[in-house]
Amino acid sequence: MKDKLIIFDTTLRDGEQSPGASMTRDEKLQIARALEKMKVDVIEAGFPIASPGDFESVKAVAAAIKDSIVCGLARTRDADIDAAAEALKPARASRIHTFIATSPIHMQKKLRMLPDQVVETAVRSVKRARGYTDNVEFSPEDAGRSEIDFLCRIIEAVIDAGATTINIPDTVGYAMPHQFGDLISQLRTRIPNADKAVFSVHCHNDLGLAVANSLAAVLNGARQVECTINGLGERAGNAALEEIVMTVRTRQDVFTCDTRLDTTEILNCSRLVSNVTGFPVQPNKALVGANAFAHESGIHQDGVIKSRETYEIMRAEDVGWQANKLVLGKHSGRNAFRTRLKEIGLEFDSEENLNEAFKRFKELADKKHEIYDEDLQAIVADSLHGDDAEQIKIISMKVVTETGEVPKADIVLSVSGAEQSGHAVGDGPVDASIKAIESVINSGSKLLLFSVTSITGGTDSQGEVTVRIERGGRVVNGRGADTDIVVASAKAYINAINKATSPVERAHPQV
Ligand code: KIV
Ligand code: ZN
Repeated sequence: MKDKLIIFDTTLRDGEQSPGASMTRDEKLQIARALEKMKVDVIEAGFPIASPGDFESVKAVAAAIKDSIVCGLARTRDADIDAAAEALKPARASRIHTFIATSPIHMQKKLRMLPDQVVETAVRSVKRARGYTDNVEFSPEDAGRSEIDFLCRIIEAVIDAGATTINIPDTVGYAMPHQFGDLISQLRTRIPNADKAVFSVHCHNDLGLAVANSLAAVLNGARQVECTINGLGERAGNAALEEIVMTVRTRQDVFTCDTRLDTTEILNCSRLVSNVTGFPVQPNKALVGANAFAHESGIHQDGVIKSRETYEIMRAEDVGWQANKLVLGKHSGRNAFRTRLKEIGLEFDSEENLNEAFKRFKELADKKHEIYDEDLQAIVADSLHGDDAEQIKIISMKVVTETGEVPKADIVLSVSGAEQSGHAVGDGPVDASIKAIESVINSGSKLLLFSVTSITGGTDSQGEVTVRIERGGRVVNGRGADTDIVVASAKAYINAINKATSPVERAHPQV
C-alpha cells in the first residue's frame, strides 16, 4: 500500500497574492468547485481577516464545498484565528492554518520578538485554533532560513499544543533540493512527537526550484504539498500543482506515495485560473502549456506515430487534453449549455449568472459557429467579471482603420449608470480605443502589460487580451475575450479599471 500524499491547494490564498491576481467571491467559488471536482484534499480559500471581501469569499467556499477540507489562513493574533473560525463555520470539514516567522532575520527585523516570545505566541495561537477545530496547521514562516534547533523546539511545542499538520515553508525560495529534503528528514527524526503530525511543505519559486524542493521533501517523508494551479503565487509563484501531481503519478517507481487526484481535470483548472486571473499560461509550460504535448519536429512526429512512448512519458488525455472538439453550436439550448459546463467543471450558484453566461454564449454563437470548451471557459470567466458591481461598462464602440489614415475610435460607456461618450485617435485601433475610454474616465492608471492570444485555432477564434495596470500603487490584471480583438482589448482594459477603482482594501498576511 502506498502512502497518501495530501494535496493542499493555495491558489485562492497565496495564488491571489500575485500582483494583479485578486479574485472576486464568485470567481473564487468557481475555482474552488473545479478544485473539488479534481479531488484536491485541502483548499486554502483565503485569509479571512484581510478584508470583508476575503471573509465572505472564505465563507462562501466553506458553504459550497463538500468533498475537500476548506482552510483559512490566520496570523497568530486572536482576531485572525477568530475570523478564520467564523468564516469556516459553514464548512463540512475545515482547517485553521496559523503561522509566525521563525528565521532570525524575520524575528528580529519584522516581528521584533525574541525566540521565546515567538514560541509562546505560536503555542497560544494553536491552542486557540484547537478550540474551534481539531484540524490545525502551523507554519514556521521562512523555515528555509531558520535555525534547525529552533525549528525543532517550536515544532515540538506546537504539536504538543495540538497542531496536526506542520508545514515547512521555503518562503523566499532560497532552498536547494538536497538541503530541503535533508531538513525534512532531520525534523522528522529529531522532533520526539513528530509522528503526531503530518509534515507538509510550501515552496516558493524564486530560483525556479519550488517543484524540485517540494519533491525532495516528499522523498524524505513530507506527506502534504502546498501548491497552486499554474504555479501562481507571491513573486515567482509557488510549486505548480500539476507538476507535483503528475511527477508523483508518472514516477511511481520513485515515490512511495500517490495522490487521489483526478488528473484529467488539470487542464480545465489551469484554464479557469488563467482566465479568471488574467495570467496567461506560457506555451512551453509543463503539462498545461499549448506545446506541452505538441511534437513539431519530423523525427519526433514519426516516432510518436509509430509508438507514442518514443517521445511521450505521459498520455495527454490523462491531464485533460483532447482533440479540439466542437461542443456546442448556434442551436444548442440552455440545458445543453449547462450540461457541458458541468462536464468541464463549471457550475453557477445562481440561475441569474447562468442566464448571463447563456446570453453571452448565444451572442458568440451568432458570430462564431463552432464553439469549443475553451470558448465556454472564456464565456464563464467574462460572466463572472461582468456582474452588476462593475461601475464601467461598454455600451457600444466604433473603430475605423484605413490604410494611410489615422485610426479613430468612438466609444459609449455606462459609468455608474450614466451614459458617456468619448472619441480619440491613436497609433492603432487598440491604442485609439483605450485613449477613447480614457477620454471619458480619466483613470490616471499606467499600462504595465498588454498581451493578445487566440483562444482556439482558426481565424474566427476569439482573441483573448490580458492587460495589467497600475493605479495609485495598486496593480491589477484585466481580461477580455471577443472575436474582435479590438473589442477584447477594450473589455480587458475596462475590466482592469473596474478592479483598480473598486474600494477593496486588504491586509497582506506576511507584511
Ligand atoms: O510563503 C509562506 O511562508 C506562506 C506562509 C503563510 C505559509 O505563504
Ligand atoms: Zn507562500
